[in-house]
Amino acid sequence: MIIVGSGLAALTVAYHLSELDHVMIFTKKRCTDSNSWRAQGGVAAALAESDDWRAHFRDTMVAGCFHNDERMVERLVREGPRRLQEWINAGMAFDRDERGRFCFGLEGGHSHRRILHAGGDQTGKALVSFLLERLEGRVWMEEGEQVIDLLVEEGRCVGVKTKREDGSVSIWPASAVVLATGGCAGLYTFTSNAPTATGDGIAMAYRAGAAVADMEFIQFHPTMLVAGGKAVGLVSEAVRGEGAVLEAEDGRPLMDGVHPLRDLAPRDIVARAIAAELDRGGRVYLNISRVSHFRRRFPTIAALCEAYGVDFEAGRLPVAPGAHFLMGGVVVNEWGQTTVPGLYAVGEAACTGVHGANRLASNSLLEAIVFGFRAACAIRRQAAWPETVHRADSSSPRRLIVPRLPERALIREQLSTFVGIVRNGDRLRKAVDWLEQFSLPDWLDGDLERLSAEEIETGYMLLVGWLVASSALGRTESRGGHYRSDFPRECPKWRGRRLVRTKEEWAR
Ligand code: SIN
Repeated sequence: MIIVGSGLAALTVAYHLSELDHVMIFTKKRCTDSNSWRAQGGVAAALAESDDWRAHFRDTMVAGCFHNDERMVERLVREGPRRLQEWINAGMAFDRDERGRFCFGLEGGHSHRRILHAGGDQTGKALVSFLLERLEGRVWMEEGEQVIDLLVEEGRCVGVKTKREDGSVSIWPASAVVLATGGCAGLYTFTSNAPTATGDGIAMAYRAGAAVADMEFIQFHPTMLVAGGKAVGLVSEAVRGEGAVLEAEDGRPLMDGVHPLRDLAPRDIVARAIAAELDRGGRVYLNISRVSHFRRRFPTIAALCEAYGVDFEAGRLPVAPGAHFLMGGVVVNEWGQTTVPGLYAVGEAACTGVHGANRLASNSLLEAIVFGFRAACAIRRQAAWPETVHRADSSSPRRLIVPRLPERALIREQLSTFVGIVRNGDRLRKAVDWLEQFSLPDWLDGDLERLSAEEIETGYMLLVGWLVASSALGRTESRGGHYRSDFPRECPKWRGRRLVRTKEEWAR
């Protein structure tokens, strides 16, 4: 079986299947080039005695603006503590106090302190390292080999096609393929994501005929550190959980009167408040003077500040919002199965429905752990394991693509300007029209093999950008991460209604 990607969801699937002797992981850069590796805040789970999965369920639904799939949310918050406890028993070390009790952090939208963290703000790195150590020598990991296409025969995914940095192409048959390629916040200029997060797994799944949904719901993290006019890295929400306050240049608290939870309001609300202040020509700072032991509690952020010459000892960090997380993705059931048999999706690439319109802080690592385990269970019991997988190949001749591709910076600029934090019909239409000039049907059906890995990645960025922009145009309301100034309110007729997209729409 083949796993595409090397973040927490990918490694979780591999960990639970590592007794099989044929698990292969393909990752387009290095195994640590993932959003999971960068995750600072932690993992949310109702493990404290005073906490309860029902409270976590409620917080997840409220943050998600009730667009969430309730059954999936219940699985997430009920099974999460069990999965985490298993890893804790196996040696995963989360931060504890001097009496050996977990130090639970707090982030926006949580009614309890329930965020487990490791190394202060190095939770993702700690979790990924924990799994990589256990997978050493047990799975086959190919770094620098990019999966460029999924192989589909008679409606079933039967393998992948890869391209190495030297341009060589290989065909890899597989009885199951798991997409764990992350989201697409790398389509934006200001982003917390690894540069690898360009949405290629979603593009490949859509191209292979799988359904995708909720692509309009992009979460913008309120606080990226700004230096030299650019967003240079994340400042975890956990910093606000420890008492930091957002303020305007003159020291006015930004979140006063905006939401009862003030600085710990849901991310979409905080991000919009900051964006509005920046649009007025102001600057926004995170005042950290009330956070005790900042360097010890947040070593990654302290190091980031030092690397970019931001003096955190002075107590104020310049911040701006940046694209952070895609709530939508490839539609899956509770076992990670997509609508294409043999193809699975986990982590941010998948749309499980747990996040609704706006993900609750620190639920993403939890989703990777819970649904990665579930996908592994399904793969293990996959009914018809073919004895030998036949050589997969794309049999029908496909037209050659002669790419006319824009600079990636331009794609990011278009998405940031027209499909950003505040959207409207005119801007979204502009983005859709701009993207459609780049012969998108070619990227759906054309022969990619002769293109460079970089060209393919850029083509997939256009396709995913189009899915985001056109879905946002289609949803005529505001909800969570999708805010339209021409439809500024939630509309009851849209509640729980998903915009599901399939390649068939191109045939119409
Ligand atoms: C953060 O640390 O603020 C990000 C964690 C998350 O997105 O849940």
